[in-house]
Amino acid sequence: IPILIIHVTDGKFVDVNGAFHNMSGYRREEVIGVSASELNQWVIPDDLRRLEMTLREQGTVHDFETRLRTKSGLIQDVLMSAAPIIVSGERYIVILAYDITARKQHEIELQAIARLSAALRTAPSRTEMLPAIVDELVALLNCETVAIEIIDPQTGDTVTEAAHGIWAALTGTRQKSGTGINTIISQTRKPYSTNDFQSDPNFIYPEWFNDIHGCIGAPLIAQDQLIGFAWMGRKSGIVEAEVRLFTAVADIAANALHRATLHEQSKKDAAELVLAYDSTLEGWAHALELRDQETEGHTRRVMQMTVELAKAMGVNEHELENVRRGALLHDIGKMGIPDSILLKPGTLNEAEWEIMRRHPEYAYNFLVSIDYLRPVLDIPYCHHEKWDGSGYPRGLKGVEIPFEARIFAIVDVWDALRSDRPYRTAWTNEKVRKHIVEQSGTHFDPQVVQAFLEFLERNNQNSND
Ligand code: C2E
Ligand code: SIN
Ligand code: SIN
Ligand code: FE
Ligand code: FE
Repeated sequence: IPILIIHVTDGKFVDVNGAFHNMSGYRREEVIGVSASELNQWVIPDDLRRLEMTLREQGTVHDFETRLRTKSGLIQDVLMSAAPIIVSGERYIVILAYDITARKQHEIELQAIARLSAALRTAPSRTEMLPAIVDELVALLNCETVAIEIIDPQTGDTVTEAAHGIWAALTGTRQKSGTGINTIISQTRKPYSTNDFQSDPNFIYPEWFNDIHGCIGAPLIAQDQLIGFAWMGRKSGIVEAEVRLFTAVADIAANALHRATLHEQSKKDAAELVLAYDSTLEGWAHALELRDQETEGHTRRVMQMTVELAKAMGVNEHELENVRRGALLHDIGKMGIPDSILLKPGTLNEAEWEIMRRHPEYAYNFLVSIDYLRPVLDIPYCHHEKWDGSGYPRGLKGVEIPFEARIFAIVDVWDALRSDRPYRTAWTNEKVRKHIVEQSGTHFDPQVVQAFLEFLERNNQNSND
């Protein structure tokens, strides 16, 4: 343990041991007869005053934490204890100084790792993670520049996805696979560090290392898979402990990035699947409209109006998606109805009606086989049910009929009657409105009729404004 003895009256060093020399770099003969404040910035003046005051007030000092500067300029974290002794009537202070630099550094590292892990757990996406990793590395290693380079799985090239300092200019740039020190790191899967890159033949981008002396490159490895590289550069040199710390942070970062990538990929796949499905659905609806030429635009109009009315009636956003798709597909079952019936210019006879009335069941059989479309069945299957139970295919009554199908039925009839059909010409708005009011409580749910009329009123006012 480094020990120093100070004379109380003049504050000058009386003696120090060999351990003190090892810790501070000052030799015994350099310090004897000199006061603490005379050693070049050895002690922080405020801390020295605090130490002296505590000694005067309390007699002894325990676990006094401070920082000292070695002769060669290195900063050390030190824990001091001090007690007075009297020898031959002279009063001295004996100080024990423990070098806790490594312990301190370890605490800082643990804190940094905990902080980074917490930040990465809550960062919702790669886009948010990357800057957090860069910032943490800059703060932790006190470095001038940092780059996170990710391997593009398609080409194998390395892309600088986030950076700080002079390497920020590299953000978005690609490095061909098999170039630079990254190649060495991919082969060894070990960090690479140097304090003398200028004479290191492996560096092929010296222009990006102006003013940089210490640098570390570490592999980003997640689940045994190399996903990229983390690089740091600093004006001052690197010590071995820092290489370990940098590598530890790189490991945490790699795993968090990998998880986020998988998560985003699966979300993207799901979104693409939905898009693919939706374009299929639109294709079907369009194919039906092409066949049933008179109904051109009907699908789009009833889809929009149903969603708006459902929203006004409090249907939530998630359900609205199903309402939208259900309305889009409401008459998909007509795909199974022969042209001779579907396009018949006159009224249908009993046999033809029998077939026409099967279209909701055709829709059901078709859609129920597709997992993704099961939640949108209600409208295609139930849009011809009637409030009084006289509808088809099942003769459901009142609230047995799914709410969304009750909404849709009104919109469908509203739009159908206002359009020309092969079997009749379009009705006027007023006539259709009157028809819907008349059918309230028989064909339609009275509450939905009420909401529908208010909805028409509002839209009328808006279009008159
Ligand atoms: P759609 O043309 O889309 O009509 C949807 C619903 O609107 C009809 O369901 C009915 O409730 C109402 N609607 C349509 N046109 C009229 C009408 O002229 N008068 C009245 N009161 N309501 C009307 P619905 O009756 O179950 O019919 C289902 C589908 O059957 C119709 O879809 C249409 O494709 C076909 N259809 C119905 N009647 C005839 C007809 O007389 N001739 C032909 N060719 N097809 C018909
Ligand atoms: C870098 O990627 O930041 C440079 C390291 C190298 O020379 O490969
Ligand atoms: C459709 O395109 O969905 C058919 C329109 C209809 O007749 O209701
Ligand atoms: Fe229908
Ligand atoms: Fe329709």
